[in-house]
Amino acid sequence: MNFNTIYQYNFPTTIRFGAGASKELGDYLIKNNLLKPLIVTDNTVAQLDFFKEIIADLKMKNISAEVFNDIHRNPVKSDVYKGTDVYDAMHRDAIVGIGGGAALDVARSIVLRINHREDLFKYDDLIGGDVYVTNDVPHFITIPTTAGTGSEVGRSAVIADDETHQKKILFSPKLLAKIVFADPLLTMELPPFITAATGMDALTHNMEAYLAKMPHPLCEGIALEGISLISRSLEKAVNNPDLESRSNMLIASLMGAVAFQKGLGVVHSLAHPLSSLLDTHHGLANAVNIPYGMEFNILGFEHKFKRIARALDLNEETGEAVVQFLFDLNSKINIPHKLNAIGVKPEHIETLTDMAVADFAHPNNPKPVTGADFKQLYLKAL
Ligand SMILES: NC(=O)c1ccc[n+]([C@@H]2O[C@H](COP(=O)([O-])OP(=O)(O)OC[C@H]3O[C@@H](n4cnc5c(N)ncnc54)[C@H](O)[C@@H]3O)[C@@H](O)[C@H]2O)c1
Ligand SMILES: [Fe+2]
Repeated sequence: MNFNTIYQYNFPTTIRFGAGASKELGDYLIKNNLLKPLIVTDNTVAQLDFFKEIIADLKMKNISAEVFNDIHRNPVKSDVYKGTDVYDAMHRDAIVGIGGGAALDVARSIVLRINHREDLFKYDDLIGGDVYVTNDVPHFITIPTTAGTGSEVGRSAVIADDETHQKKILFSPKLLAKIVFADPLLTMELPPFITAATGMDALTHNMEAYLAKMPHPLCEGIALEGISLISRSLEKAVNNPDLESRSNMLIASLMGAVAFQKGLGVVHSLAHPLSSLLDTHHGLANAVNIPYGMEFNILGFEHKFKRIARALDLNEETGEAVVQFLFDLNSKINIPHKLNAIGVKPEHIETLTDMAVADFAHPNNPKPVTGADFKQLYLKAL
């Protein structure tokens, strides 16, 4: 692969991938006669040079870009309502999400809300709310600035209740971006901690998607290649980044999100409660839990772990070697091996266990996970 070339892929939507791809946004908007976009981002990204350059370029092309960046780090419903108010008040005609998973999830939820004005959580996928997503949605464009969630190619958004902090999932095929500009140059300055945490989220997506019980060879092939790319690139992207490692991480994170339409598993169910209860970054929560969750999954699935070990290019093609690889990788990218290092205390375990049991991810795990299993896994990781 030539890292200075922009490639086009059409699965699952049009993806313009390569160094400089984000510079195509202005011409794309003009070509589609979208001259009043709402740009949704977060407060940190809004201050970065590349973001200011994108906005300046749009202005130079006589595109009226209105920026909305008033969002929480784990986004809540009121963020979505505020962004919708700006869209209405400023008479916008499209939505461009630029940022990590948090900003892209808010952008996607505003896309939903524009023509669906019932309470946002009526559309919660977990209570079958996707059937109410029947109206048209505005033209939606995504530009990822982290390499982790892959939300840019997703059809769902994770939004929490302002009071209870319980996370809800908004889902509809209509929420898939019409086009993704995936530009590794935007991720060049990602701080090491965010690179590590988001990169481990991407690795977790690929591994859990590969193992998830639904048969889906298309996604499994993508997941194995995603695992391979990350194993070759994450340490370098964290400690000594270059265009190759950043490009590999960005495409692999996108692949993880494409693959996890197949489902996720026990690791995401261990991780979600940490974000709800302790505001832990989603990727960090996955990173600490993944060796334990994968160890739990080995028995009965040795044949699948053999394929994962091959994708990781390990000498020993066993599940145990995969688990050791995960601990070693965490060490190399400064992720702790234990939950107590990220603020989890023994008194949290009961609540975390109840929340993990109620989580939506583990029913797709290759084997069932009981409350007793979750408790044991948390205690082992503590
Ligand atoms: N929709 C989905 O399918 C899906 C899947 C998994 C997670 N999520 C959600 O995504 C969110 C996490 O997303 P994330 O891991 O991308 O983190 P994030 O969006 O919270 O970003 C992490 C931090 O990095 C900063 N940042 C982003 N881009 C940067 C850049 N280029 N340079 C410097 N700093 C930058 C952000 O401002 C933020 O402070 C959570 O809310 C989670 O629930 C969504
Ligand atoms: Fe995730």
